[in-house]
Amino acid sequence: MAEIKETDAITGIETTGHEWDGIKELDNPLPNWWRWIFWATIIWSIGYWVAYPALPLISSYSKGMLGYSSRGEVAVELAEAKLAHAGQRVKVASASLEQIRTKPELLEFTLAGGRSAFNVHCTQCHGSGAQGFVGYPNLNDDEWLWGGSLKEIQKTITHGIRNEDDEDARTSAMPAFLRDKVLNPAQISDVADYVLGLSGQSKDQAAQGRGKAIYAEQCAGCHGETGSGDMAQGAPALNNAIWLYGGDKETIVETISNSRGGVMPAWGRILDPVTIKQLAVYVHSLGGGS
Ligand code: HEC
Ligand code: HEC
Repeated sequence: MAEIKETDAITGIETTGHEWDGIKELDNPLPNWWRWIFWATIIWSIGYWVAYPALPLISSYSKGMLGYSSRGEVAVELAEAKLAHAGQRVKVASASLEQIRTKPELLEFTLAGGRSAFNVHCTQCHGSGAQGFVGYPNLNDDEWLWGGSLKEIQKTITHGIRNEDDEDARTSAMPAFLRDKVLNPAQISDVADYVLGLSGQSKDQAAQGRGKAIYAEQCAGCHGETGSGDMAQGAPALNNAIWLYGGDKETIVETISNSRGGVMPAWGRILDPVTIKQLAVYVHSLGGGS
């Protein structure tokens, strides 16, 4: 297409020489406002390059004269958060477990800390919802092996259970009635029926009758005459539907024959006292705290 510049007859302005289907473009200058903004943005961008990190270099980037970095900004924010936490942690350290529970702001901080520590240190054994597994107690219910008050929970967490690292660990041992030849298999079967009868699960009246005397002699000292358990010895209640190892006859026979002894680490050796307090208040809050 030929570009012929000519002067427009009506406006007297030269055309650019572009023509589309007889429509021609006047060679008007750009409006001033447009040009000023155009230059201003270029000047602004140069200023920005100088002041802030902007240009990628081979192994780094231009740092900018203001020394700004988003990493630095995060570091400052983290330091501020830590400082705020430090204040709260001091309060947790000096308050009693009961006091923490009565102060809403402190309680909120404590529960948040307890929850995150629980997720890191406890879920592998007690489950992500603290629901427990066979041999690892559910911490949401109102059934406690060793005690569900704030103090007892704190003690359990601090010293652990049946571990060898802490002299003050909670400890007890149920005899292995078959292995230690205290009872024979028939007697174990009978006392298992008696145990099942405590929660209304055995229909074998004769076996329960025979098992009753064995229970009174061999088991009541730890599990209580009515099967209500004894938290001083970590002996679970046997008169309800909550089982640590299982409530079918086969599992109960196995428990009586070879005994059980769950082990939990002593967290007082691993975690600081404030974190343990947070954990105690958190576990207590899960629903079953007494
Ligand atoms: C290595 C596995 C393991 C880990 C990790 C663990 N526990 Fe335990 N925990 C156990 C076992 C096993 C028992 C039951 C012991 C028994 O049979 O008496 C238990 C019992 C408890 C009890 C007593 C419950 C009751 O009914 O009296 C509490 C409270 C508890 N754990 C809290 C925690 C907390 C909090 C953490 C994390 C800091 C934790 N546990 C981490 C294995 C573990
Ligand atoms: C010296 C105390 C002691 C004596 C005696 C004892 N037990 Fe136990 N028993 C325990 C303890 C402690 C546990 C919990 C073990 C654990 O937490 O790992 C337990 C656990 C059990 C359990 C498992 C409960 C569950 O929730 O899964 C059963 C069942 C049981 N005992 C039955 C008996 C019977 C039946 C006898 C008598 C023949 C008996 N025990 C005698 C201390 C005792």
